[in-house]
Amino acid sequence: MSELRTASESKTVPESPRNSPVREGSILLRSARRSDAAAIEQLVSRSGVLDHNSCYAYLLLCTHFADSCVVAERGDAIVGFVTAYRPPGRPRSLFVWQVAVDASARGQGLGLRLLKHLVTQPTCQDIVAIQATVSPSNLASRRLFESFARHQRARCVEETGFEPADFGKDSHEAEPLLVIDWSAPTPTPHVSFTGKS
Ligand SMILES: CC(C)(COP(=O)(O)OP(=O)(O)OC[C@H]1O[C@@H](n2cnc3c(N)ncnc32)[C@H](O)[C@@H]1OP(=O)(O)O)[C@@H](O)C(=O)NCCC(=O)NCCS
Repeated sequence: MSELRTASESKTVPESPRNSPVREGSILLRSARRSDAAAIEQLVSRSGVLDHNSCYAYLLLCTHFADSCVVAERGDAIVGFVTAYRPPGRPRSLFVWQVAVDASARGQGLGLRLLKHLVTQPTCQDIVAIQATVSPSNLASRRLFESFARHQRARCVEETGFEPADFGKDSHEAEPLLVIDWSAPTPTPHVSFTGKS
């Protein structure tokens, strides 16, 4: 695909402003960069459960939406990431597209740290909700979002997202929409999933 630009724009796709990196032990959490796209694609491929998108799609996320995409770096390797963007019409929400942690780093709280880091970045400070679609069979993902909802003392409700028929000829599970909203924090976090997990 050819690159479109106006005369006043730079010769390459501009990257979004940077958020603050944070080091926690051996893990550095930082905004995604163009050079992370290929590693993110590989991590998605290794996950075995996430929809595998083209490297081009991850390049767009790591450039146009870099301020709402976080990677976890250990040494030279990307061992986790979360990709997200502000959905049109809901400017104070983030739609979390994909989150993954390499098998070698799972079960250590990294998925939760990625989500917490994302919503506390300066460019996300006005965010009061996240949305994500999670297939009912993906227990780890559901537990991760439940955990994040508890951390935020947020309401978490499940709404209709994408139905199997929406995927056309592809065989695909339903993707109900989880909405985690802390605009009115509750003393007792309310998690209300109707999924099958
Ligand atoms: C989902 C995923 C990102 C979780 O990453 P992680 O770093 O292992 O998660 P954390 O250690 O931060 O755990 C967060 C919560 O989820 C729970 N959890 C994590 N993996 C779990 C599993 N396999 N089964 C049940 N619960 C699980 C943890 O117990 C924790 O809950 P708690 O806070 O109540 O104790 C990781 O399993 C993964 O990459 N899976 C493949 C990709 C995927 O399915 N992504 C989500 C859809 S976009």
